[in-house]
Amino acid sequence: MPTLPGHLDYYTQYGINPVRYDTSDPRLHFERRASLYRTLGITPLTIRGSRVLEVAPGTGQNSLYLANQRPKNLTLVEPNPAGQRDIAAVYANARDVVLPEVLACRLEEFEPEEPFDLVVCENWLGDSVHERGLLRKLGGMVADGGLLVVTAVSPVGVLPNLLRRALSNRLAPPDEPFVKRTATLSRAFGPHLQTVGGMTRNATDWVHDNMLNPAYLGVILTVPMVIEDLGASFDVLGSSPRFAPDWRWFKSLCGINRDFNQHLLAEYHGALHNFLDHRTQLPARDAIRNAYLEAGALAVAESLRLWEAGEGDGELVEIAVRKLIAGIADLPTTYRSALDEFLDAFAEPRLTPETVASMSHFGTLFGRETLYLSFEKR
Ligand SMILES: C[S@@+](CC[C@H](N)C(=O)[O-])C[C@H]1O[C@@H](n2cnc3c(N)ncnc32)[C@H](O)[C@@H]1O
Repeated sequence: MPTLPGHLDYYTQYGINPVRYDTSDPRLHFERRASLYRTLGITPLTIRGSRVLEVAPGTGQNSLYLANQRPKNLTLVEPNPAGQRDIAAVYANARDVVLPEVLACRLEEFEPEEPFDLVVCENWLGDSVHERGLLRKLGGMVADGGLLVVTAVSPVGVLPNLLRRALSNRLAPPDEPFVKRTATLSRAFGPHLQTVGGMTRNATDWVHDNMLNPAYLGVILTVPMVIEDLGASFDVLGSSPRFAPDWRWFKSLCGINRDFNQHLLAEYHGALHNFLDHRTQLPARDAIRNAYLEAGALAVAESLRLWEAGEGDGELVEIAVRKLIAGIADLPTTYRSALDEFLDAFAEPRLTPETVASMSHFGTLFGRETLYLSFEKR
């Protein structure tokens, strides 16, 4: 597998921090964060008086919610200079918060003297050997009985955006200037993004962080990978979205049945198809068919990696998509219509941003891409 550059090299190369949230209504921003933590089983009481660490906080906007819950202390580790400037600006205007200690270093260099009660790291660590090592390092910073919040990426959920990335390679090839590529892709995908309710990122940041970020194809850290890396010392507590219902009687949850990680994994495999379209929620599906779907999505990702590394071409993507389509005949026909529309556009010799912008089936297809997981340290 080709080695991909990291987020940090790319952000510092262009002096960007493309992860700004719409916080024009601070109350709504805090409500979103409170809902996320609540779904993960973390209420304000858990945060109050705790030692809290957030690694890779980006703009720091999300950390404000933690700071507002009156933790004992809050440490932020952010190596991107543009991010550090944003964090300073966010806290300069903040009221009723515990001011954080901001460390301008990478997680690689961070060696805290004592563990933390709550550690948060969202939307950063991917599936490279190096980053999976950092995930385990992060786990080592959590106190016994403490909590860890991390994100995983669903291969099925990321599929629609992988296909947008394939269209991007046609519309705005890497030899064009960064500013021109940004403008072209914002025109193409801005209308797609407008169809997503609850979107808090602007089109420019989304294009920078997903379509033009060379690290994007390395973000597919799956739920099973996270459990593999952390499962020896952590029990999963919650997930957002909550894809793993648990109908078992609590009195049976003792001895070997207290394996929350295995339960989550079993539910995950039966729910994979539900990550493809954020608008739909279907009954559980046969795990073998779903494994085929996930393998198909990973094959699309791999075909893109090869293409972008100059070791393949767009035809590999097309072949992988056709193979995936063959395995979803039992799923809603809207999925197939969207993927067929993608194939038509992808085959278009003179594809324009306007054609992409007006795709009526594919344009509204966004997956449940990012999954949050909370863990309790044994
Ligand atoms: C996609 S952004 C996510 C930012 C924020 N967590 C969010 O969800 O908005 C990735 C973040 O990882 C940070 N990052 C990249 N490499 C890092 C490293 N080696 N150590 C710590 N943070 C890193 C970047 O600077 C950036 O803030």
